[in-house]
Amino acid sequence: MKRQQIAAGNWKMNKTYKEGRALATAIAKGMTSTDSLVILGTPAIHLNAVANIVKKVPNVEVAAQNCHQEKSGAYTGETSVEMIKSVGAKYVILGHSERREYFNEGHELLAAKVDTVLGKRLIPIFCCGEPLAIREAGTHVAHVKKQLEESLFHLKKKAFSKIVIAYEPIWAIGTGVTASPQQAQDMHKAIRQLLADKYGSDIAEGTSILYGGSVKPANAKEIFSQPDVDGGLVGGASLKPDDFLQIINSFS
Ligand code: 13P
Repeated sequence: MKRQQIAAGNWKMNKTYKEGRALATAIAKGMTSTDSLVILGTPAIHLNAVANIVKKVPNVEVAAQNCHQEKSGAYTGETSVEMIKSVGAKYVILGHSERREYFNEGHELLAAKVDTVLGKRLIPIFCCGEPLAIREAGTHVAHVKKQLEESLFHLKKKAFSKIVIAYEPIWAIGTGVTASPQQAQDMHKAIRQLLADKYGSDIAEGTSILYGGSVKPANAKEIFSQPDVDGGLVGGASLKPDDFLQIINSFS
């Protein structure tokens, strides 16, 4: 089965409204036809504008970077999945290591968010990945396995088939240190095996697994060419239109 290849940008907490619109416009204008999917993960406040900018551009979608687990209610300052959907976003990034670390998002909360996102027929981009100490201890596969088990493996096969996974080793995020193509491949293969053990090989072979952590134009091609790497979740380089466009064009 041919898996969907995806170049996703995670803008994090960057860009004013005007700058965000300019970035989305530059990406939309610079896009050449591609079979791969491009996803722009913008701050919530920019979602509507960016969704409108890319509306007519084929293969470009918009993602929120977080959502609340409840459908609506007295949660001052929060953003619901329904709101996200209502402005044209189709994806929600969940479980990013920055949210796990700075906002104390744990397995159970993330499982609830996954359910809420799927319940509104949006697609979670579920992030997993280990800190440096775990990598050095050699227990990184077990660490990621637990993240998947605790927040995703309650899903039935049909629901799971919608999920996009992003493997983001924490030691590679924003550090300029990328996992080597082989390290990425080894972990992606291990993740795919976990999916096969749980859901069967058809689901495992159909699930897009993205790599995140210092993806740049200079390394994207080699990383994306690994057999189990289906694209990237890109932070810093997604803020520069020329860099992100080069990354979009890095699929062979
Ligand atoms: P960088 O590409 O800046 O390392 O960030 C990766 C990331 O966290 C994407 O979600």
